[in-house]
Amino acid sequence: MDIRNKPDLKQARRRSKQPIITKEYQSNPTIQNLGVGKKFLIQTHGCQANEADSEILKAMILEQGFTQTDKVEDADLILINTCAVRETAENKVFGELGRLKSLKKINPDMILVVAGCMSQEEATVERILTKYKHVDIVLGTHNIPEFTNYLNYVMVEKKKMIEVVSEEGTIFEHLPKARDSRFKAWVNIMYGCDEFCTYCIVPYTRGKERSRRKEYIIKEVKTLVEMGYQEITLLGQNVNSYGLDFEGEDYSFADLLRDLSDLKIPRIRFTTSHPKDFSDDLIDVIALRENVMPHIHLPVQSGSNPVLKKMNRKYTKEQYLDLVDRIYKKIPDASITTDIIVGFPTETEADFQETMDLVRQAKFEGAYTFVYSPRKGTPAAKYETTVTNQEAKGRLYRLNELVNEGYLQGNIRFKDKIVKVLVEGLSKTKDNVFSGYTEHNKLVNVKCTEASVGKIIPVKITKVKTWSLDGEPVEENK
Ligand code: 5AD
Ligand code: SF4
Repeated sequence: MDIRNKPDLKQARRRSKQPIITKEYQSNPTIQNLGVGKKFLIQTHGCQANEADSEILKAMILEQGFTQTDKVEDADLILINTCAVRETAENKVFGELGRLKSLKKINPDMILVVAGCMSQEEATVERILTKYKHVDIVLGTHNIPEFTNYLNYVMVEKKKMIEVVSEEGTIFEHLPKARDSRFKAWVNIMYGCDEFCTYCIVPYTRGKERSRRKEYIIKEVKTLVEMGYQEITLLGQNVNSYGLDFEGEDYSFADLLRDLSDLKIPRIRFTTSHPKDFSDDLIDVIALRENVMPHIHLPVQSGSNPVLKKMNRKYTKEQYLDLVDRIYKKIPDASITTDIIVGFPTETEADFQETMDLVRQAKFEGAYTFVYSPRKGTPAAKYETTVTNQEAKGRLYRLNELVNEGYLQGNIRFKDKIVKVLVEGLSKTKDNVFSGYTEHNKLVNVKCTEASVGKIIPVKITKVKTWSLDGEPVEENK
């Protein structure tokens, strides 16, 4: 085992004033054809940042001549891009690694790679070193540009290796990308997070907040427009703090949205927004620009002020509700969704009721809800908890009941309306039915033809359910 660098959470916590350096990626011309005649499979866990990273890793693998398979038994290279946000996500990965052990016995040349946020955790790497010795490469989130070199090393030298650095301030441009969709694209606008919410591991696994130079973002989106892409989703852990790290420059996320909206891409989405940085200027851009979608994902996490304070969220329930109010005033049809954690240490029943109250007032049309999961190395992991597992689960159940009402209400308002749907492909459940998303990010099943895939078509909503809408295409200009 070649251990080049192991994760170091203490180092990962550091934030210096060092300027951000932009480097341009160049592939190593001396490494070619590693994968000719071989197959690969990538498993992606977690958030969109991971999905975007997987598209880069996939491009690097394809460049080497590997072809894709969806069967683990056929794969010569298996890459697991992991998520560290909750223990359940981690357990899934360890389960998978355990299952792959027997496969590795049958096919010892198969290369097993662990990438993503879990690699950045000390505990994961120790566990791999002791219990999952069949893993060939462990690489961190900052080491993606080096992946081809690692693959070459492992395949040629027949060694295993770990390289996980906790670098602060580099951005790589011109990384290759094998996008999964022909009409929807992820566009990273920033990396890392400096918020340090006390429950969250992301600032440690993804490093210092750093914004991509706007010139690179604009160029990437221009190319996507030329290629016929219909929708982009701008990605960052907190897109509203985009540009705050540019020294001596005043260029905000709202400015970036305006510039990108001018490029005439039909749809622009963005995620995730931290409530504390959501400016009125940004609300105006969403309200005024037709190609900026009226769906805002605005994680609240809790409705209790003492809990919010303990979480280090930097806003109160009242401030959050005031923001939601300002959004609805300027964008009356906005669809707001959120993330909520229940069972945070110290959360009392009264605190939880504050969350329920906030959910009612904010009129969320959807929410990802979670039971708090302690993450080693974060401040909250040291808080003494007063909530039992059973209580937390009970709260989650009650919260979900309420949240589901919001999903339904959010869908009901579209009954008999004509909405625009970007058709993505065949629906999961029925033959001859296609599915896609509306501007408000509602899932619609529509009876149309293959010809509509990749296009935005007008659809009349005929049936409303909690999780989806049914509709029929309407002729345009009618
Ligand atoms: N436990 C439970 N949920 C968490 N999240 C982040 N960290 C934790 C944790 N330790 C949730 C937050 C965040 C979403 C991506 O995951 O709600 O917004
Ligand atoms: Fe985690 Fe908070 Fe950063 Fe979101 S804003 S990634 S919850 S630390």
